[in-house]
Order: sequence, then structure tokens, then C-alpha cells
Amino acid sequence: RPLDINIELPDKQAAQKIKIGIYFATWWALNVVFNIYNKKVLNAFPYPWLTSTLSLACGSLMMLISWATRVADAPKTDFEFWKTLFPVAVAHTIGHVAATVSMSKVAVSFTHIIKSSEPAFSVLVSRFLLGETFPVPVYLSLAPIIGGCALAAVTELNFNMTGFMGAMISNLAFVFRNIFSKKGMKGNSVSGMNYYACLSMLSLLILTPFAIAMEGPQMWAAGWQNALAQIGPNFIWWVAAQSIFYQLYNQVSYMSLDQISPLTFSIGNTMKRISVIVSSIIIFHTPVQPFNALGAAIAILGTFLYSQAKQ
Ligand code: 3PG
Repeated sequence: RPLDINIELPDKQAAQKIKIGIYFATWWALNVVFNIYNKKVLNAFPYPWLTSTLSLACGSLMMLISWATRVADAPKTDFEFWKTLFPVAVAHTIGHVAATVSMSKVAVSFTHIIKSSEPAFSVLVSRFLLGETFPVPVYLSLAPIIGGCALAAVTELNFNMTGFMGAMISNLAFVFRNIFSKKGMKGNSVSGMNYYACLSMLSLLILTPFAIAMEGPQMWAAGWQNALAQIGPNFIWWVAAQSIFYQLYNQVSYMSLDQISPLTFSIGNTMKRISVIVSSIIIFHTPVQPFNALGAAIAILGTFLYSQAKQ
């Protein structure tokens, strides 16, 4: 028997690595598609509060249908589960809407350059709010992250304060979301996919009244007519695509978070941003200044140094 165990173990590890690799590749590809359609929609229809709500509504509907048709097993949840989920949902809602507001004001690549500094927020929150300390190299790795983002921000041709602040608020909110999620997922029997489904539903309930207050049906109706007149019926497909791909990429990212540490998750997330930055620059012909690109490269290098230092 011991011999069997020795043979099985590396096989199992290799299979697990392949599984995570497939999750990561799928997550990045789905995210690139989401970002492209999301920006196409926002260019024609600049109502980020509604598009954020539609993404959550579409995800919730997709999951309700999967449960009803038994494509996926519905989770067994109790009041305690929803109570623990509430702060995660508040953080998810703020992070989501803030990122979408950001992308409605600036280039997708700029939002994601700023969002690549999420690890710096994670260290600062852990240090100052949770009292966790880290080895000196971890703090040192924050210098290129913050410096690189600052350089990218000051050299950004189409800098916009709302766009910048939206990405910063999203960073802060998602750090809390990830800390609370990992805690909430630990020890409960709800899978990563179902956990994200419940998260979407609760976030949808939280976001809807705010979306109505911030934009509202009158603005949406006029904007919708305008977008349809500009783009034609394809506009409806773009909205559907951004909503469906938002659910899919998040679902896959939560399926990975279920299997890996928050650290591995944040490394995967940074690599995801590189694919989004590069593909959106190509697709939207975003003008890139040399110092702007240098800032982005330094910030991303900083996140890799951070992950090394944290390991
Ligand atoms: C959103 O709309 O929630 C953001 O685009 C998500 O950003 P992420 O890349 O951090 O998931």
C-alpha cells in the first residue's frame, strides 16, 4: 500500500495543477471578453450603475435556472450563512460598481493598471486594520507597485479623477471582499460556484435601489433609445454578452478561490490584468505614451515581487 500512495501522490498533484491551470486560463479568457463588451456598452450607453446591476441580475437568473433545472445542485443555506455573506456582498457591490464607473470614464487599460495595485491595498488593510505584520521585503515591494501606478496615472493622456478614484475604491472594496469570502467559504458546505451565485443575488438586492437613485429609469430609457439608434440591434447582444461573461468569469474565479490560497489567487488576478490591458489597448486603439507603459510595467513587476516576498 505505501508504494501505491507514493505513486498516486505526484499524479494527484499534477492533476490538481492542470485543473488550476485550466481554471486560470478560462478565467482570464472570460474576463477579457467581459471587459471588451462592457466597454463597448459603456461607450454607447454611459450608465455604469445600470450595467453593473444588469450583470448581477443576469448572473442571478442564470444560477436560478441552473438550480431549477438541476444543472447545478442548489445549496442548502441557513440564516447564519446569509448573515455572514452580507458584508461580502456589500464589499462586492461597492467594488463592482466602482470599477464599472471607472471604466465608463477612462480607458479599460488605465482602470486595470490602477487595479493591479490591489496587493498594496491588501497589505495596508492587513497591517493597519487587522494588525498583521509582514517581512520587510513585502513592504519594499509596495514601492514599485505604488510608484508604477503613480507614474501611469500622471502620464495618462485621458486622466479623469472619477475614473481614478473608482478604481482605487474598487481595490479597497475587493480586498475586504476577498478576506471575508475566504473566511465565509471556509468550513461551510457551499461550493465556490454556489457561493458566488448567492453573492450575486444579495449584491443585486443591495445595488438595485442605489442604481435607481443614481441614474433611474428616465435616463436609462433615453440612453437606451440613443444607443439603439447609434449601434442598432447589436447593442442588445453587447449588453447580454457583458452580463453573461461577468457571471461566467466570476464564477470560475470563485471556483479557483475555493481551491487555492488568497495569495495564489491575487497572483492569478494580476496575470489576468496583463491580458486585459494588452488586449484592450489593441482592440480600442488606446494611445500609449512611453512613460505610461513604463509605469504599468513597473507596477506589474512590483506585484510579482510582492508575491515572491510574501511566499
Ligand atoms: C467589475 O465590474 O466588478 C470589475 O470589472 C471587476 O474587476 P476585477 O477584474 O477585479 O474582477
